[in-house]
This record gives sequence, structure tokens and C-alpha cells, in this order.
Amino acid sequence: MSTDSISDLAEPVRDADRLARLTWYAAMARWAPSKHNSQPWCFVIRDGGIEFSTDSRHALPATDPLGRERILALGAAVHVATVAMRSRGWKPTLLTLPNGSVRLAEGASREVGDDERSLRREITRRRTDRGPLDAARLPAAVPFLLQSAAKECGVTLRLVTSAGDRKSLAALVERADRILVRRGTVDDELQPWLREPGDPRADGVPSSHTRGPAASYRAVFVQRDFSTGTSRPSQDRPEPDDPLVGVLCTSGDTTSDWLAAGRGLAAVLLRASVNGANASYLNQPVELPALRAELQSDLLLPGPAQLVLRIGMGGTVDAPPRRALVDVLTYGSDAAPAPD
Ligand SMILES: Cc1cc2nc3c(=O)[nH]c(=O)nc-3n(C[C@H](O)[C@H](O)[C@H](O)COP(=O)(O)O)c2cc1C
Repeated sequence: MSTDSISDLAEPVRDADRLARLTWYAAMARWAPSKHNSQPWCFVIRDGGIEFSTDSRHALPATDPLGRERILALGAAVHVATVAMRSRGWKPTLLTLPNGSVRLAEGASREVGDDERSLRREITRRRTDRGPLDAARLPAAVPFLLQSAAKECGVTLRLVTSAGDRKSLAALVERADRILVRRGTVDDELQPWLREPGDPRADGVPSSHTRGPAASYRAVFVQRDFSTGTSRPSQDRPEPDDPLVGVLCTSGDTTSDWLAAGRGLAAVLLRASVNGANASYLNQPVELPALRAELQSDLLLPGPAQLVLRIGMGGTVDAPPRRALVDVLTYGSDAAPAPD
């Protein structure tokens, strides 16, 4: 075999080990969070890397007309894949392609530390937890660690800690929630994504992950009402519902800001999970432009709010469904996996 043909064989995607690793990163990326568990993404392995794109077949046009939250979910999937890649000893290299897709490839090899292994373990363990969340039992360093995780992705997690700011935020969330419920568009769009026990579909929010309206409206911070006949009762855990609350902000409001916010979201959630904490969302004011602007000015945020998170020690939540890898991943012609 000539040297040339050996180097041909060493081309990234013909390298079976690398192809297997890329496939595994893509499999891990599916565990990223997405609105209503819509999983609005598709992945292509080609030219030695993975290309991540949004999939408009899973769009939510009524509540996400610009596709902002779809791109947030894509950013989260990209970040999860980078965590998987780091845990296998490779530095991730990221490139945004002219068509808006994000290409992830392996850079230099590196030592794998305990922290990388811990973060990787949380990829499939992390859960959105809409039950009571208690900030008082969080390890003391967690607020700082969460803010650092966001900062590493170029976004800001503004923690809302003073009594006055928490009150303003709670009032804004409640006002937004009431407007959205009255409009009905959110509920209309949400209904098709709620899943009763035994539903075989690989997306959507299981009703066991939701809480009844009493839970939503009795809490200081009103959560979106996802309840169905089989939702959990309002208070199914004895612990207090007193979460740490934070707003994830970006400097601008472009698609690259949304991608960064999605990466920051996944980084914050995985860091929280490493510390035993769960999180969920209070995004209602972000979905209404006037209230989103009010949120930014009331809390003196450094830029547009992308997501509002509640974080704390929660309970056990079953794994929500995910699409099979074959339904989200394809291979470019240079990267077909070897036949068995
Ligand atoms: C951009 C974005 C917006 C979301 N908005 C909400 C929300 O408003 N309310 C909520 O309860 N969950 C929200 N979620 C969480 C998803 O419902 C959750 O990620 C999905 O059901 C999958 O569950 P998992 O996070 O436990 O894997 C959001 C997630 C993302 C990425």
C-alpha cells in the first residue's frame, strides 16, 4: 500500500474509530433540552465533523415565530456534543457555516479530567423538573458555578436575588402568564405535545412531568400550566418551592446570540445537575415583546433576556422520550458507516 493511499484511509470520515465517536457525540446531543421536547434538530456527519441544523418540521410557529427557541435548542445540542467530545479526550472546534448550520469537529487531543467525566455523566441524567425546587439546600458554590458556566459560553446568567427584584420578576411572570392564557395560542400549540402514559411517540412532554394548575398558581413564580388529567398533584414533595431564579441574557438578539444562549443553557443545566440540582423555566415574559423589554429594564439586565430559569434541589423525574438516532442523524456520502 502506498503512503498516499494510507493517508487517504486516514481521512477523518473513513477512520472507523472517529466515525464511531462522531456518531456517539450525535447520540448524546439528542439529550439536550428543547421547548415542548420538540427536538427541532438534525445532524449530518461529513468531512470529519458533525453539522447541526434546525429542522423546521418541528417548528412552533405560534409561540416561536422567529425560530429563536429552535436555535436555542440547537445551541444546547451543540454544547452537549462538545461535552461528550471533551470526555473522550478531544478539544472541540466549532464553526458556523454560511447556511446557519454549526459544524463541530475534533481538534487537538487532550487529557480527560474528573470534571469532564462528571459533566458527561449528567448528559442523560439531567432533567427539567417542574416540581418544587429548593434553593436553600444548594451547595454554596452553585450560584457562582452556574454563572461561570454561562460566561464560558459568552452569555450572562443574571441571578435574581434581592427581595425587590424577585417580587418584580414574579409579578411580570404572572402578568405574562395571564396574557398568554387569555390569548390561548400557547395552550393551542402546547396541547399536541402533551403525552399521556403509554403514548409511544418519541417527543413531547409526559403528563407525569407536569403539575396541576393549583401548583402553578400557588407558587411565588407561576409556571406555565401544562396540566392534563394525569398530571401530578400540586404538592407531591414535602420540600419548599423556593428556587434560585436567574435570567439568561445575551449582548444582542441575533441568531448567533441565540446559539450562544442555547450553549450557555446546556452548560448551566449540566453544571447544576453535577451539583445535584434540577431546573425548569419561567419564560412567559420572554414570549411577549413588551414584557420582555420590561424585564430587561426592571432588572437592569445587560442585554435581551433569552430564558428565565428556576433552579434548586428537586426530586426524581423519569427520562422523557427522545427520537431514535436514525431519525435525526444522516451520513454524508464520504462518511457511510462500514457495513456490519
Ligand atoms: C428554548 C427552550 C424553552 C423551553 N421553555 C419551557 C417552558 O416555557 N416551560 C417548561 O416547563 N419547559 C420549557 N422547556 C423545557 C422543555 O420542555 C424540556 O427541555 C423538554 O420537555 C425535554 O425534557 P428534559 O429537559 O427533561 O430533557 C424549554 C426548553 C428550551 C430549550
